[in-house]
Amino acid sequence: MRFPAPRQQVPPAEKPTAAKQFERKWNSRLSPSVPNLLPGVCGLYQARGSTGKMCLFTNNQQSCASVESGCVAKLSEISISPSDRVFILTGAGVSAESGIPTFRGADGLWRNYRIEEVASPHAWARDPQLVWEFYSMRRQVASSARPNPAHFALAKLEQRLADRLFLCTQNVDNLHEQAGSKNVIHMHGELFKSRCDSCPRPPFDDAHLYEPPAELPRCACGGGIRPHICWFGEVPFELERIIRALDACTIFMAIGTSGVVEPAASFVAHVRARAKTIYVGPEEPANASAFTQCYLEKAGEILPQLF
Ligand code: OAD
Repeated sequence: MRFPAPRQQVPPAEKPTAAKQFERKWNSRLSPSVPNLLPGVCGLYQARGSTGKMCLFTNNQQSCASVESGCVAKLSEISISPSDRVFILTGAGVSAESGIPTFRGADGLWRNYRIEEVASPHAWARDPQLVWEFYSMRRQVASSARPNPAHFALAKLEQRLADRLFLCTQNVDNLHEQAGSKNVIHMHGELFKSRCDSCPRPPFDDAHLYEPPAELPRCACGGGIRPHICWFGEVPFELERIIRALDACTIFMAIGTSGVVEPAASFVAHVRARAKTIYVGPEEPANASAFTQCYLEKAGEILPQLF
């Protein structure tokens, strides 16, 4: 007896997301000859990963290959005394549970786009239209995202600690503010702001999508309007305030950041001699050896339990 041949299952066509649509268009325009970026002295750049001794604390020993015996802490609220000053650095991972893609994960943005082609002064000079398409896509994705329990936990912590909390984010979305955080330093800029590339006009609110056939926006001075983002090779915003806050902190916590983009990746090394250093995220960051405690968990799941 012969069995009928199995029928091929055709999966229903998925509606491409804004990110996917842009990715397809972008891939067809890739130029193979863009120079690599050189690390600037104090500009944004991507460092190589570091290795070293790990002393990782996790509430899930199975998930952490590097836990030293005797180092495993039970999950409990982080103790913050009235004299403590807390510095929190957040990265893309804190918004991952809100549906905003990270940069270096399996579906990360830098798996599909080249930094040099969409996030550098060189890219802006070469193809501002492509740069605006990339940031328009990111505006579209971020505009429908809502804060997750990690953002709310940090907003609650601000209510408790007031100016003893310094919240510094590498994220350009506004999910910390949507969750209620009042004082947020956006060291890599803000997605929903633009500025002139030529005159000193201050950055302004701008949620427009600049996609063809729309004209590229221009300033009254004749300059080009660009996204208010710190690109690779540029100097991050508010660095002086950030360094003052790092110098004053007694607890430093990094959440959802891979520890490969400078200068943020070096903040923990700057404070580790005198501050307690804590990491939260599902994977070890490249600078894990500088942390005294690592909670290898998703931020939205663990932060509400830590504060
Ligand atoms: P990355 O994409 O490099 O790293 C994201 C980190 O978040 C990874 O370590 C993940 O393990 C972690 N992660 C993923 N899901 C998480 C979750 N649910 N909870 C907590 N952590 C989670 O992003 P960043 O380190 O933020 O700059 O990248 C730094 C900068 O590089 C960005 O600001 C951006 C980028 O290029 C510019 O574009 C200017």
